[in-house]
Amino acid sequence: SSKYEYLITSKPEPNVLLIQLNRPKALNALCSPLFKELNQAMKDADGDGSIGAMVLTGSEKAFAAGADIKEMKDKQFADVYKNRFLEDWAEMARISKPIIAAVSGYALGGGCELALMCDIILASPTAKFGQPEINLGVIPGGGGSQRLTRIIGKSRAMEMVLTGRTITAEEADKWGMISRVVGQGEGQVVKDAVAMAKEIADKSQIAVHAGKEVVNEAYETTMAEGLKYERRIFHGLFATNDQKEGMAAFAEKRKANFTHT
Ligand code: CAA
Repeated sequence: SSKYEYLITSKPEPNVLLIQLNRPKALNALCSPLFKELNQAMKDADGDGSIGAMVLTGSEKAFAAGADIKEMKDKQFADVYKNRFLEDWAEMARISKPIIAAVSGYALGGGCELALMCDIILASPTAKFGQPEINLGVIPGGGGSQRLTRIIGKSRAMEMVLTGRTITAEEADKWGMISRVVGQGEGQVVKDAVAMAKEIADKSQIAVHAGKEVVNEAYETTMAEGLKYERRIFHGLFATNDQKEGMAAFAEKRKANFTHT
């Protein structure tokens, strides 16, 4: 849409928002204005009752090649510290609707971190993930060191962060970084991600929010607290019409018609 300079948004399904990063000349390098637009688009979708899930993608060549090195190169410590550089990236973590990353090509540095901030990652066979910041004399600044370590473990996270080596889609799959590698062909990863987003968006949005919330809680709390939290949220869903409808539909051997209430 013309609303954005660095994004193209569309609705490939009535209840799915597709956000495509659109800064092709810089391989979707994540400059500050781009991230501001991305946060805005996601916040708008989160508040739009017609949308049940989002897909985030880049181009065939690059999901995103990282934070914008040209924007960063002359920054001083005082600037980045006082202006809380990159802190606004965390706004994505407050989005309650599911976000599926459809990754083709380079997902490097901040691009890899952006994919890791999504809820589900699908990768095309061309996807390449890496944290090459070490080659620039810095380290990941968008959560890579923390999220990767929790997801793929210490040795593999250390290898990625300390050598900067780029890994293939196949390795990322084997390491449990992504859900799966999709079939070959241009646009396939976006098609599969949109189909998955539609599948999710067609369910009870309340239950979907709750599911995302409780899985994320697993990263923030102890097992005992997390299990209790899950059970309480589970109990809470018995106050929804969608629980009544979903279970009645099962008993009556028909398809549920969720009203998201
Ligand atoms: N920032 C700014 N510009 C970038 C960029 C980035 N991260 N990545 C690519 N570009 C620009 C290039 O400068 C180039 O611009 P010009 O045409 O004006 O020269 C254009 O995009 C195309 O890139 P290349 O010519 O380099 O394309 P290539 O196919 O030869 O190489 C690549 C592709 C291997 C991805 C290479 O572009 C590259 O190494 N990019 C940088 C990757 C990187 O280091 N990312 C980490 C950034 S730091 C970070 O993200 C910090 C953090 O944790 C938040």
